Amino acid sequence: MKIGILGSGAVAKTLGAGFLKHGHEVTVGTRDAAKLTEWKAANPKGSVGSFADAAAFGEVLVLAAKGSVAAEVCRLAGTGNLAGKPVLDTTNPIVEGGPDKGVLKFFTTLEDSLMERLQKEFPEARFVKAFNSVGAPRMVDPDFGGVKPTMFLCGNDAAAKATATKILDQFGWEVADMGGVEAARAIEPLCILWCIPGFRENSWTHAFKLLK
Ligand SMILES: NC(=O)c1ccc[n+]([C@@H]2O[C@H](COP(=O)([O-])OP(=O)(O)OC[C@H]3O[C@@H](n4cnc5c(N)ncnc54)[C@H](OP(=O)(O)O)[C@@H]3O)[C@@H](O)[C@H]2O)c1
Repeated sequence: MKIGILGSGAVAKTLGAGFLKHGHEVTVGTRDAAKLTEWKAANPKGSVGSFADAAAFGEVLVLAAKGSVAAEVCRLAGTGNLAGKPVLDTTNPIVEGGPDKGVLKFFTTLEDSLMERLQKEFPEARFVKAFNSVGAPRMVDPDFGGVKPTMFLCGNDAAAKATATKILDQFGWEVADMGGVEAARAIEPLCILWCIPGFRENSWTHAFKLLK
């Protein structure tokens, strides 16, 4: 598939390399291509462009921007370039200023989520929450000694979730579909939980597993 990645941080770079590794075509988008010089050298088959270039290129998009500017990045990508496409939304609504005793603060409440705000502003995009509650180094082909970790996802569009599920399967994850966009109110805060061992014990390599 053709994948457009909106972002130049750890998530964008890791997933960009992961999609290339798994045989997809990738354009990564940023306001400042110089941030991706090293990534491009390490991933010569990948392309780098603006947010709009990446969004126009991708049949499937990945939103990997800082939470507070996620909507702005979608605007820069161009509403028309998002329309009808699955957008794997990795973002978290984290407040600047760091955690309180290891617990991050969000600018959303439990009756609201960042992905609901994005889905409302860009109704023609088909957002799927994914990859938000694990660290970038574990996102692609995570090795837990043969045990597959669980990726919680949600979104309103069944076909977009099926596409996300195929990708996650390829990347070595099992998927737990939590329903419509409102479930992002529960999935986004998993990031807060995931980060606590990181801030308290400098332990950043775990992932969640749903036992049934
Ligand atoms: N880091 C992780 O391990 C991890 C794991 C799971 C989920 N997440 C979530 O994934 C998202 C990406 O995280 P990250 O650590 O890779 O990167 P990040 O540092 O949170 O975000 C970097 C991106 O935000 C964009 N950005 C920042 N300020 C902007 C502005 N004023 N206008 C437009 N764009 C702006 C940057 O654009 P330019 O490229 O143009 O500079 C860059 O592409 C975040 O929401 C984070 O919470 C992160």
